[in-house]
Amino acid sequence: MTGTHVAIIMDGNGRWARMRGRPRWRGHVAGVESVRDTVRACPDLGVTTLTLYAFSADNWRRPAAEVGRLFWLLREYCRREQAELIENGVRVTAIGRRDRLPASARAELERLEQASAGGSRLHLRLAIDYSAQWAITEAAGEVAREVGTVTRSALERALTGGVPPVDLLVRTGGEQRLSDFLLWEAAYAELFFTDVLWPDFRREHLAASLADFGRRERRFGGLVALVGVTTPEAVRAAG
Ligand code: FPP
Repeated sequence: MTGTHVAIIMDGNGRWARMRGRPRWRGHVAGVESVRDTVRACPDLGVTTLTLYAFSADNWRRPAAEVGRLFWLLREYCRREQAELIENGVRVTAIGRRDRLPASARAELERLEQASAGGSRLHLRLAIDYSAQWAITEAAGEVAREVGTVTRSALERALTGGVPPVDLLVRTGGEQRLSDFLLWEAAYAELFFTDVLWPDFRREHLAASLADFGRRERRFGGLVALVGVTTPEAVRAAG
């Protein structure tokens, strides 16, 4: 059974560290614990797909030392968490560009992707060197080359590979913007913004966002009673 797809913009690491008089990268280190706790919580909370914005294409503009630390953390996460992730039935895949990643981070990521391919309780997607506009452009180019005509369904297939759309998009750290994250996949997502800084984010915050999501009335542009009725003929038949 397909459960909820949650996507998270993990923001606020730098501020969390600064508030403690520490360098920004300390916030990223603390943020890894939040990733761990969130991933562990997902299956119990009915989340079957979790997409985390770990490194945006815009993040290359940060100082080289911070970028280096982030890729070191990603590499270490892939290496150290592999056994637990596999034991818990987590399949890990990455979205985004791979050609600009440091070789060691890319190798570790791809090792984890292969080793965890059989996981079926949770699909953890790490968005790394990711830009939604880039991803949509790439997918459109692929469809144009291979099929010729770019249709909505062909583009969706090329872009998502069959991964279900985002149900709930969470952003921590108080900002309220999408920052080029999953612009197509989150077209009908419910948005949840919280002031909690990512390093403070824990299972109970995820549970609270899901409880709020459960109270939302999702209409997909229609009236709630007609959700699932998708053609003018079906609407007429439904009265
Ligand atoms: C945004 O905070 C956060 C990031 C750019 C990186 C997120 C990375 C991690 C949580 C660690 C590695 C991830 C995995 C999956 C192991 P910010 O630095 O923009 O915070 P600020 O807005 O307070 O400056």
